[in-house]
Amino acid sequence: MERVVFGRSGLSVSPIAFGTWQLSPRFWGDQSKEDALAAMRLAFDRGINFYDTADAYGDGYAEEVLGEAIQDMPREELVICTKFFNHFNPDASRYPDLSPAYLRERCEASLKRLRIETIDVALLHFYDQLTPLADVAGTLEQLRQEGKVRFIGVSNHTVEQFRAQRLHGPYCAVQPPYSLLAHEIEDDLLPYCEAENIGVMIYSPLHKGLLTGKYQGTEAFTDFRQHHPDFQGERFKSICQAVQSLKPLAEKYGLTIYQLVLTATLMHPAIHVAACGIKSPEQIADAAGALGKSLSREDYYAVRKALEIAPAPKISDAKGAKK
Ligand SMILES: NC(=O)c1ccc[n+]([C@@H]2O[C@H](COP(=O)([O-])OP(=O)(O)OC[C@H]3O[C@@H](n4cnc5c(N)ncnc54)[C@H](OP(=O)(O)O)[C@@H]3O)[C@@H](O)[C@H]2O)c1
Repeated sequence: MERVVFGRSGLSVSPIAFGTWQLSPRFWGDQSKEDALAAMRLAFDRGINFYDTADAYGDGYAEEVLGEAIQDMPREELVICTKFFNHFNPDASRYPDLSPAYLRERCEASLKRLRIETIDVALLHFYDQLTPLADVAGTLEQLRQEGKVRFIGVSNHTVEQFRAQRLHGPYCAVQPPYSLLAHEIEDDLLPYCEAENIGVMIYSPLHKGLLTGKYQGTEAFTDFRQHHPDFQGERFKSICQAVQSLKPLAEKYGLTIYQLVLTATLMHPAIHVAACGIKSPEQIADAAGALGKSLSREDYYAVRKALEIAPAPKISDAKGAKK
């Protein structure tokens, strides 16, 4: 079993985490629950012990399915990560709310859905402007003392926001977006985390499927990707061509393009874990094939070079707005 130490938490985890966002119908459409359960089980059988979810994924549905899947797995070998941020209204609208009473309520609801006593890694899904940092940290500390949470961290925070949180509590993990197409955090968050031995679990390592190598650039999407600039028109086509150009290198290592990209992504020394979004047993089997793999330095940079594509223009730039 390949394991890494997840930064200062000391948790022993697989470098690939099973991502459950795909069970959110509002982003991904309806997914087969049977496929999800089978994939979660296969993940464990292939050496993956880290599962990533959030109370926001399908408004609790992803946590429920994960809770069902882990019933017949050895709890002590699993590391379960979930996230809090939203206040959920009965009409399915949401707004940020990390206020003490609500955060506690959300944590207790997640424990019930997951059918576990303790959340191993609890993350603040985003930064809540309205709740004082000391209140958030204070609530998490109480939950920790009650045994409901083991380790705490943040997601989608800038390095400044994360540094500010750390002045109030023992935050030891981050979950930022990162892929070989979108690697802005290499400039600030990753060096900071490496220096401070923070557990880093990146998300969207395959850029929401775009780096898996299965797209040719002509596909049309019915899920949230139909509105994503990287999945549109000429830009989509040129990214797909760049990804397809990786095929000979993947073959040299006996890997799929997906596995090549994932292997290269995990070579960054600050990155401990990649949370991979999975819909089926076939997809997790592909991801697990990257475990224990490595590329030469030269080939790592060849992958980087092939994927050197300018970021999509920001809407303000596209409109020629004054700087
Ligand atoms: N903290 C946050 O705010 C946040 C945000 C987003 C995600 N996350 C977490 O990170 C996880 C991963 O993010 P992501 O879903 O954006 O990641 P991703 O791993 O970059 O992309 C996942 C998509 O790739 C495709 N795919 C997966 N395996 C494949 C394979 N073997 N072959 C071909 N295609 C494959 C699937 O879509 P298709 O089959 O439809 O192409 C899948 O939905 C999520 O599940 C979630 O746990 C966290």
